[in-house]
Amino acid sequence: QEGNTATGGLRRPRRVLVFPLPYQGHINPMFQLAGLLHARGFAITVFHAHLNAPDPSRHPAYHFVPVPDSLSAGCTDTADTAVMATINNILSLNSSCEASFRERLAALLEAPGARDDVACLIADAHLLTLMEVARQQGVPTLALRTGSAACFRVFMANPMLCDKGYLPAQESQLDAPVRELPPYRVRDLMAISRNREEHDQICHLLSRAVEAVRTSSGFILNTFDALEADELATTRQDLGLPVFDTGPLHKISPAASSSILPQDRACLEWLDAQAPASVLYISFGSLANMSGADLAEMAWGIANTGQPFLWVLRSDLVRGVARVTLPDGFDAVTSDRGMIVDWAPQEEVLAHAAVGGFWTHAGWNSTLEGVCGGVPMLCRPYFGDQMGNARYVELVWRAGLVLECELERGKVEQAIRRLMQSEEGDRMRERAQKLKSRAAKAITDAGSSRLSVDKLVNHILSLSK
Ligand code: UDX
Repeated sequence: QEGNTATGGLRRPRRVLVFPLPYQGHINPMFQLAGLLHARGFAITVFHAHLNAPDPSRHPAYHFVPVPDSLSAGCTDTADTAVMATINNILSLNSSCEASFRERLAALLEAPGARDDVACLIADAHLLTLMEVARQQGVPTLALRTGSAACFRVFMANPMLCDKGYLPAQESQLDAPVRELPPYRVRDLMAISRNREEHDQICHLLSRAVEAVRTSSGFILNTFDALEADELATTRQDLGLPVFDTGPLHKISPAASSSILPQDRACLEWLDAQAPASVLYISFGSLANMSGADLAEMAWGIANTGQPFLWVLRSDLVRGVARVTLPDGFDAVTSDRGMIVDWAPQEEVLAHAAVGGFWTHAGWNSTLEGVCGGVPMLCRPYFGDQMGNARYVELVWRAGLVLECELERGKVEQAIRRLMQSEEGDRMRERAQKLKSRAAKAITDAGSSRLSVDKLVNHILSLSK
């Protein structure tokens, strides 16, 4: 244990309740945060939905409370329906868990001494209704947003973007810069959608997340000051709330893995046998999906570069098929210089010296893991915050490039060569290495994120004295 702790050795540990959103990109940072607070002496209770329920045996020190929901894993017929299914799931998670969460929380608070023990609920910022339930029962709340500070600024700016006519987006305006939020263009915003109903639904989701943050006693972000200093400063100014930049959480936290899918660790041994900085690691996170035609173009583009590769082919990566199949003849390329896995221990992969580049969908966790690995990134964003993250990688941190065009093998080959085999790519790698050093500095004893964790611990202890 280090720094200030939750007990001071005088009494039973204070308890922090957490409620993650049941998606991989949200579960990981919440468990990392819980691991951090547990290491500072807090007892942890995890409330969770049935969808993607965590495995309690991996976290024997925590107390788990399942909360029934009415969610399905989502429909992946097309990219758009997958996004809308996720948004609808988030909204219905709030309503379908409300009554059962109220009951379970009340039962927990009735236990002898529990009212004094429970310090707060930390919930994903998409769980406004459940945070309201907690506050009605006298439990203070903190909101965790698992995206970047820049992304949350876009959430807050959404009404302005609608008022000024950027949204709903017009096809002819997609490349127009959003002057108030550089380096975003209209096409990089969250609420671009082809139809009005979807646009309204996304706006509703964003305004609920902003309300969840504004009505909480504090706001936790998985980022660090040297990466997003201006974005954090304006967020603090706009919110007038304590904002804790505690990232990169996966580096600062001793948490056990919270991966939903089993991670194939054989790829680490395969990486051990590769030359330093030679391998292109390819992964599109837990939700993004693509057409079979795009997959084939990707495969031949990768093959034509001659570069060694480690490729995560999630079983539901390709829309409309039960099993991902690569084009005929690609097996020979893989056996010559590649490895394909269903799911990788990504944080360890990106920290491995053999990895020289990361082709990513630019989800925020992946982006941060890439930053901490010091690897340049080829970004192919699909939806949500990914376009904005990719924009930051290319234009603000200049540690990678974005592949925006259609996926065609010649263009894929060219983009990978720029990243892995050019002087321009070497410069990106140097900048990526600098970001890695800054991330490492942020989590040293006097680093900005470590100090922010200290402040967070004190803040939690001050909430319900
Ligand atoms: C979603 C959104 O898409 C993302 O944009 C948002 O910021 C968070 O929620 P996801 O698409 O899954 O998340 O992407 P990402 O944020 O990158 O999270 C994926 C997580 O899965 C990462 O922590 C990564 O380490 C992990 N992962 C990925 C694995 O453990 N193994 C893999 O093979 C691939």
